[in-house]
Amino acid sequence: MNIDNLITTFDNAVRTLHNVYGNRRPYPAADKEIVELSDDERKHVAGLMRVDHVGEICAQALYQGQAFTAHDAATREHMLEAADEETDHLDWCKRRLDELDSHTSLLNPIWYAGSFAIGAAAGIAGNGWNLGFVVETERQVEAHLDDHLEQLPEQDKRSQAILQKMKEDEIRHADNALHAGGKPLPEPIKQGMRLMSRIMTTTAYKI
Ligand SMILES: [Fe+2]
Ligand SMILES: [Fe+2]
Repeated sequence: MNIDNLITTFDNAVRTLHNVYGNRRPYPAADKEIVELSDDERKHVAGLMRVDHVGEICAQALYQGQAFTAHDAATREHMLEAADEETDHLDWCKRRLDELDSHTSLLNPIWYAGSFAIGAAAGIAGNGWNLGFVVETERQVEAHLDDHLEQLPEQDKRSQAILQKMKEDEIRHADNALHAGGKPLPEPIKQGMRLMSRIMTTTAYKI
């Protein structure tokens, strides 16, 4: 166990759960018109954005867990770089939730802890599985974002721009992990991941 790894891990957990991160890329919604949403629409969009924000909390924790137990420095670096790029997504979802007068999930510390443990287990399994896990996670997130894009109100161009940009990034993350040597995961593991994500999304929509 390396003390630097412990510090990096702890630092990420604190910053992620307190919305402290330096985002670098511009907010995708910045040039999109602010339109009136009905009360029901606003609540629905906030629920969807909260789910997406939790997804990004989980992504941070998974990557950190995977980096923590990665078998070599290159895989560890791969995980930390991807986690770093994901911080923009956290920021964008949080900003949109603020605009919608809503809040992030109250259960974020639990999502973070659970995802960190799963990521650490994937890291222990070895590099091919570790990277394969990234490929599968990102593909599932992409499918998820597609579903949300369809559910967003037609006139809500701000939320659409955010999710569209996130989707492009997640596709790239999956491709990078695949090219770095990600192995396809066994079907029961994929199903387990889908089940976990279903529990997370139904809960986070509300709280
Ligand atoms: Fe993301
Ligand atoms: Fe991603």
